[in-house]
Amino acid sequence: MNKLFLVSFLGLLITAYAVAGNMLYDNFNILGELEDLDIAEEGAELFEDPFWISERGGKVLVNVDSFGAVGDGVSDDTEAFRKAWNTSCSTPKSVFLIPPGRRYLVNATKFQGPCADRLVVQIDGTIVAPDEPNDWDPMLPRLWLDFSKLKGVVFQGNGVIDGSGSKWWASSCKKNKSNALTIESSSSIKVKGLTIQNSQQMNFVISRCDSVRVSEVQVSCPGDSPNTDGIHITGSTNVVLQDSKIGTGDDCISIVNASSAIKMKRIYCGPGHGVSIGSLGKDNSTAIVTKVVLDTALLRETTNGVRIKTWQGGSGYVRGVRFENVRMEDVANPIIIDQFYCDSPKTCQNQTSAVQISQIMYRNISGTTKSKEAMKFACSDTTPCSNIVLSNINLEKKDGTAETYCNSAQGFGTGVINPSADCLNSHDKGYILIDHKENNAELAERIGDRITHTEL
Ligand SMILES: *[C@@H]1O[C@H](CO)[C@@H](O)[C@H](O)[C@H]1NC(C)=O
Ligand SMILES: *[C@@H]1O[C@H](CO)[C@@H](O)[C@H](O)[C@H]1NC(C)=O
Ligand SMILES: *[C@@H]1O[C@H](CO)[C@@H](O)[C@H](O)[C@H]1NC(C)=O
Ligand SMILES: *[C@@H]1O[C@H](CO)[C@@H](O)[C@H](O)[C@H]1NC(C)=O
Ligand SMILES: *[C@@H]1O[C@H](CO)[C@@H](O)[C@H](O)[C@H]1NC(C)=O
Ligand SMILES: *[C@@H]1O[C@H](CO)[C@@H](O)[C@H](O)[C@H]1NC(C)=O
Ligand SMILES: *[C@@H]1O[C@H](CO)[C@@H](O)[C@H](O)[C@H]1NC(C)=O
Repeated sequence: MNKLFLVSFLGLLITAYAVAGNMLYDNFNILGELEDLDIAEEGAELFEDPFWISERGGKVLVNVDSFGAVGDGVSDDTEAFRKAWNTSCSTPKSVFLIPPGRRYLVNATKFQGPCADRLVVQIDGTIVAPDEPNDWDPMLPRLWLDFSKLKGVVFQGNGVIDGSGSKWWASSCKKNKSNALTIESSSSIKVKGLTIQNSQQMNFVISRCDSVRVSEVQVSCPGDSPNTDGIHITGSTNVVLQDSKIGTGDDCISIVNASSAIKMKRIYCGPGHGVSIGSLGKDNSTAIVTKVVLDTALLRETTNGVRIKTWQGGSGYVRGVRFENVRMEDVANPIIIDQFYCDSPKTCQNQTSAVQISQIMYRNISGTTKSKEAMKFACSDTTPCSNIVLSNINLEKKDGTAETYCNSAQGFGTGVINPSADCLNSHDKGYILIDHKENNAELAERIGDRITHTEL
């Protein structure tokens, strides 16, 4: 062998290793960052135990019945609720009580704060919305039970919030439909044990809030009810949803713009469209979502599993997401990133910008896929997805072979990856990690591949 050739070959190898080493180093950094992505589940200091029943001396009961509520499901209890709220809100340590065993018919209402300290909203009975779209108060479109400007409030009980949405589901999507329960512009909120069902549109919206803990909540709507997201988080930080069961006609959980530090733990979803980040970037808008963790979930017969969806033309980014310990049963698109989301009758043209997606980890995800594409990373040609990390994935198709689809997606895997996701390692479509000479880059890539397929 020509000596000069050998020397230059060695030089090439060393460069290649150095580059590969760098890639590995970067990858570890990302793993570290994602490992650290944990959110305290209980803000113990934020909430004192609401033992309002057993507590002597502390709590003042404000029962809606004492303000004239009838609770027969027919009489209009709106005014009684509004009066009781005003009293409750202005009384320290009060309990706004909706007693068990009755159905209260209540119109769209804004329950506004700020309120006196230590308010508890105890929902043990059922609150129902009027079911006739023509009777809806035109002054209060888009909302039904809307709580705002609260601080340190606990919502709890075994009661039901029922949006009576069936006539709305059948009506035109151009109608302004209402979300059942909204908590907005509030902080240090705890929601425990409630059932929210049959909303006209989204069931439970958390908007512009900080420090929210939701546990043991159930959401239930028919699988074919349109736009009935289970829990929708927008503009909110430091939110933990846990031990909740959601079955609905749209996303079980959706997380959109300006949300960060969101943790979901022990979630059941089905029927529904899965757990989604997005949609983001509609009408060229800017969206930022960071630090989202889903840990331990079962998705059964949903149309998507874990999804990130963005429109062409948007800007901003989704960064730092971990989906782990997820079991999929007959899910149509178990793992999906869709940067060509287009929920419109017209086809959406591809644009030069998109919401950037990076540092997304999928770990210990297993089960069955309904479609062939068990994993789909459909990223924008101009804004590729980067640092997608797969670790121990096993998704099978009962009658056939599962596949992974990639477009402009870069990442790596550790442990068992089934179906294999080699397409993540390709740097075609103008996306080159290493801008050395071509053969040099190829060599680095092969070394990179070896590292990629080793257990870390
Ligand atoms: C409740 O308080 C608000 C604000 O003070 C007031 O506008 C409203 O009329 C009150 N509602 C009732 C039913 O007392
Ligand atoms: C509740 O809505 C019904 C139907 O629109 C209306 O007749 C009634 O006055 C409303 N109640 C209150 C307290 O506004
Ligand atoms: C929907 O609400 C908006 C205001 O929020 C209003 O301008 C529009 O007319 C409403 N549309 C319908 C169909 O009621
Ligand atoms: C996204 O959130 C930011 C920060 O709150 C806000 O300024 C912006 O208007 C939001 N964009 C959309 C499309 O809502
Ligand atoms: C988004 O931007 C593109 C390119 O500038 C433009 O063609 C399109 O009309 C814009 N869309 C909207 C909804 O503003
Ligand atoms: C993987 O996820 C499944 C489903 O949530 C869970 O039962 C299992 O314990 C997880 N395995 C590990 C090693 O964490
Ligand atoms: C947008 O780009 C993607 C990826 O290159 C391609 O599959 C898709 O057909 C394009 N869509 C349109 C409407 O041109």
